[in-house]
Amino acid sequence: MNDQASIGATPEAAQLTPTQSPILEVRDVHKVFGGVRALNGLSLAIAEGEIHCVLGPNGAGKSTFFKMLMGTDRPTSGQIFYRGHDVTRVPAFRRARLGLSVKFQNIRVFADLTVFQNLFIPLRRHYSARQIPERVEALLAQISLSGNEQRLARELSHGQQQWLAIAMSMAFDPEILLLDEPTAGMSVEETDKTAAIIRQLNVQKVTTIVIEHDMGFIRDLCARTSVLHYGKLFAQGSFDEIASDADVRRIYLGTL
Ligand SMILES: Nc1ncnc2c1ncn2[C@@H]1O[C@H](COP(=O)(O)OP(=O)(O)OP(=O)(O)O)[C@@H](O)[C@H]1O
Ligand SMILES: [Mg+2]
Repeated sequence: MNDQASIGATPEAAQLTPTQSPILEVRDVHKVFGGVRALNGLSLAIAEGEIHCVLGPNGAGKSTFFKMLMGTDRPTSGQIFYRGHDVTRVPAFRRARLGLSVKFQNIRVFADLTVFQNLFIPLRRHYSARQIPERVEALLAQISLSGNEQRLARELSHGQQQWLAIAMSMAFDPEILLLDEPTAGMSVEETDKTAAIIRQLNVQKVTTIVIEHDMGFIRDLCARTSVLHYGKLFAQGSFDEIASDADVRRIYLGTL
């Protein structure tokens, strides 16, 4: 997928081949919260149709990067492009209409509602009441929860709740899915299953950006990987290139 993968951050965001025009790009984005520099000149481009993993130590700015992409927060300076259009000032609800969807770091399922009701909430904005049951069925098949419509979300395992949250993010067929630590707290089996779900979504052409700490999971996805450190792009390449990079290993204090 990435013929020109290269280790080491460059000032240009684009480390893509000319045929891979970015679907999303951040250019020299800074974000300051009070005195904290969450992003410090981040430039990064995402190619259409790729699975792109983002990793980095705690506090590196990964979740802030997602907030910038989704528009739930604005950069202090810098620009964000979606299909070449500057969306820096476009509010989150309009970016969602353009096809961006996010599952944030904390699970967002409604524990006291049924699985069906959880999906009904995002679906009702985009589908008629008659279309919804069919759409629920299709989404549940994608996350191996077919037949569980009437179960309360709280009765699901932690992994199943995470998958339900992914299905909720997929409810209106986004072009781009942003997943912030989707395997946090999952068992090995659940983590493997999550990788399979993401690969399947990618077969359906959903560009997916995943923030993760789990190296086995990233290796499974065979994704192009960007490493953030102190709010900047620190390294980028295939998983193997990243995992064997001495500087990346150093910032992770040998935890790879
Ligand atoms: N709303 C906020 N107000 C103040 N500081 C913030 C806010 N959001 C993030 N920060 C700070 O910005 C820095 C980057 O935070 P961010 O959540 O993006 O990191 P992260 O890479 O996602 O970390 P983690 O791996 O722990 O999830 C951190 O120092 C964090 O404390
Ligand atoms: Mg985070």
